[in-house]
Amino acid sequence: MRIIIYTGKGGVGKTSVAAATALRAAAMGYRTVIISTDAAHSLSDSLEFQLSGQVLPITKNLDGIEIDMQYELENRWKEIQKYLSDFLASQGMDGVTAKEMAVFPGMELMSALFYVEEFHKQKKYDLIVMDTAPTADTLRLLAFPDTANWYFDRLFHMLRNVLRVARVTVGKFISTPLPTDRFLRDLEQLRERLGYVEDLLSDPEITSVRLVVNPEKMVISETQRAYTYLCLYGYTVEAIVINRILPDELGDGYWKSKLEEQRKYMAIIDEAFSPLKMLTAKMMPREVLGMKALDRLADELFGKDDPTKIYSTESPMKMFDEDGASVLAIKLPFPMNQKLELYTRKDDLTLQVGAFKKSITLPHSMTNKKILGADMDEGWLKIRFEGEKVAKRKGGKGRRGRKAARKTS
Ligand SMILES: Nc1ncnc2c1ncn2[C@@H]1O[C@H](COP(=O)(O)OP(=O)(O)O)[C@@H](O)[C@H]1O
Ligand SMILES: [Mg+2]
Repeated sequence: MRIIIYTGKGGVGKTSVAAATALRAAAMGYRTVIISTDAAHSLSDSLEFQLSGQVLPITKNLDGIEIDMQYELENRWKEIQKYLSDFLASQGMDGVTAKEMAVFPGMELMSALFYVEEFHKQKKYDLIVMDTAPTADTLRLLAFPDTANWYFDRLFHMLRNVLRVARVTVGKFISTPLPTDRFLRDLEQLRERLGYVEDLLSDPEITSVRLVVNPEKMVISETQRAYTYLCLYGYTVEAIVINRILPDELGDGYWKSKLEEQRKYMAIIDEAFSPLKMLTAKMMPREVLGMKALDRLADELFGKDDPTKIYSTESPMKMFDEDGASVLAIKLPFPMNQKLELYTRKDDLTLQVGAFKKSITLPHSMTNKKILGADMDEGWLKIRFEGEKVAKRKGGKGRRGRKAARKTS
């Protein structure tokens, strides 16, 4: 089974590209399901097919679902939500507010991840396409399994303490509802299931992330940042989709300066994202609505190629700790036989080797850190930054981080 996740800034065409990919894959015979995790669902509009919070068949080989939080809450989160709202109410929170607060944002994210888990266990599909919310929310979704593990550990610890204290101070603790066995079991199960999804998402033979951009300044900056963090979390980013490219035929008139601007931004996209595989689609003369229009978009993107193809099983950029230094490793598409120049400015790193120039948004942990050195290691340029001085978060790196580190060492 393959999982393809499309992400990018709002309005760049994630939903259209995801729908086009799913339709094309289904037409080629792959049993496909498309999941929309954006609370502002627009997949139904794009496909001109009304989806719901439950899986529905769309066409031959294609099913779809728009995750509906209300439905999820009523069916999946009852027990946990009940305990949390009782707990908050016992702490003096007004009943209605407590009920609202017990819907923590992670629930929506987890629901989406649990569908991925269920689809994988059912073996009903060859391909899952995820149409996600704009980058910030999606980064939260994709960082979720790691972060959640960390919280679960502490939550268990706290609840065990609550139970212990409750036993010795019988009576005094009456106002705090004790977690039921059912609640603790539910929580334990959640944790196991997240671990399962995490394994799927971190397997480069299964999951790949494709970034969607437009040739515009603000879009590119946000996408660079997302690219950095996705690599940091250990996801395999294997392609970038450049959507809504204005055709040169627009010529000399009204669009002249727009086309010049676009050429400049295409060069910037190349500097920022090469050697990622680049898929392109031009700006269509109409909104991309309905299956026919989506099919044309798929032609643009993939031609006759298989849209489920794995372009690469590793991201061309990785971050990890090594011997006390923070390392940024970048795959270079050529042998290093010329002088390397590195410049940093705030969270921006520029590297130049001969005519090759690359710009990278640094993660927080490497921003404003001294560069200790750089060397080549089997096609990877490893840039070493001064390590963290402050004590690290206990528990260290997540599973994916460790995996990524192992691969390059
Ligand atoms: N290549 C394209 N040419 C013309 N319109 C496009 C193209 N790609 C997307 N659109 C339109 O742009 C709008 C936003 O696209 P959408 O896929 O919903 O973006 P996102 O999911 O990233 O917010 C929609 O009206 C869509 O039909
Ligand atoms: Mg969308």
